[in-house]
Amino acid sequence: MTAVSPDSPIPSSSELPPAQRRISRRIAGIAESATLAVDAKAKALKAAGKPVIGFGAGEPDFPTPDYIVEAAIAAARQPAMHRYTPAGGLPALKEAIVAKTARDSGLQVTAAQVLVTNGGKQAVYEALATMLDPGDEVLLPAPYWTTYPEAIRLAGGVPVPVVADEQSGYLVSAAQLDAARTPRTKVLLFCSPSNPTGAVYPLEQVEEIGRWALDAGLWVLTDEIYEHLTYGGVTAPSLPVVVPELADRCVVVNGVAKTYAMTGWRVGWILGPTDVVKAATNLQSHATSNVANVSQAAAVAALTGDLSAVATMREAFDRRRKLIVSMLREIPGVACPEPQGAFYVYPSVKGLLGRSIGGRTASSSVELAELILELAEVAVVPGEAFGTPGYLRMSYALGDDDLVEGVTRMQRLLTSAD
Ligand SMILES: Cc1ncc(COP(=O)(O)O)c(C=O)c1O
Repeated sequence: MTAVSPDSPIPSSSELPPAQRRISRRIAGIAESATLAVDAKAKALKAAGKPVIGFGAGEPDFPTPDYIVEAAIAAARQPAMHRYTPAGGLPALKEAIVAKTARDSGLQVTAAQVLVTNGGKQAVYEALATMLDPGDEVLLPAPYWTTYPEAIRLAGGVPVPVVADEQSGYLVSAAQLDAARTPRTKVLLFCSPSNPTGAVYPLEQVEEIGRWALDAGLWVLTDEIYEHLTYGGVTAPSLPVVVPELADRCVVVNGVAKTYAMTGWRVGWILGPTDVVKAATNLQSHATSNVANVSQAAAVAALTGDLSAVATMREAFDRRRKLIVSMLREIPGVACPEPQGAFYVYPSVKGLLGRSIGGRTASSSVELAELILELAEVAVVPGEAFGTPGYLRMSYALGDDDLVEGVTRMQRLLTSAD
């Protein structure tokens, strides 16, 4: 074995002999989820008695509807639910997903094209792990959800960000994607409505991007987890429905978390061609086996019920969306486009950087977010977490009173900037 002498230059971790590398290179390269970190910091400050208001969380502030909870309680009493079940999901849930997909997006799939996962997050990772070989490139429209680049790297792929700013409504064009394509490109990762911007691609642009991907011979991973959270009459068309010829190279990710206020239940799914779904199911059979049966039973109740719970949430989110946008726009130096979906706003704060705020100066959005947390006791997530410095992401999935109090504190602090 090569000894590392105290006098030799310190080798970088990747040059060390295997047994001296405490953490594998693959895992050491992964960054902590910035959004969960902000949320944890805000919760810790709150627990310590600070009146922190958190705009960091990516989850509805509503409880899961009663009829879903009741279905879970009934399932917990059934001995069959105490056992292992098929790794790919309960047959009843797969059928419910098939029916729900036809009802909501119009995509026709069979149960063999469904894999039930531990939330949309596992669905994203397993889909990428199943599609990518080492070095395969993934076109990643930015601002992107913070998990995407890490999941791509974990799966051996290379994220290739394609940036769209507020001028284009945070929507990338097919021309931009084409300019970023190389012979190593395999997948386009598409997310509409978007986390973190709330942008929703209109039908013509979905079609343009879908046709481009088809002509370029690429695969598409499309994340539809916010499908029901759109406002002002806007809808989010499903890419494989708009361009059906792409269905054989398209994998859809979805889940119950955002639509039914079920983030803690951990149920999501993948829809795709049968060979891809079969391979992803093999992966899951070794990684985690079946998703908790009680959660799957809850998901069956959610998906076979109506959409009234999401309609109620949508109304509240829409009201808060308008309120937060108008309040943020009152702060000089903040430019806040109106989002059309999900429950996030993504204002540019470039106009505040380098200015004196409460006797301090922030030169980046990370520093600005820290300053806002310290001086206004308001938690927001800096744009660095989403691949675009100079912005903040704020979730408006919090109570109306907290929303007003939190943004008022920010107004007081930031309007003093000079
Ligand atoms: C765009 C997007 N996709 C997928 C997920 C995963 O959701 P979950 O794993 O809670 O089902 C999230 C959660 O924040 C998200 O924002």
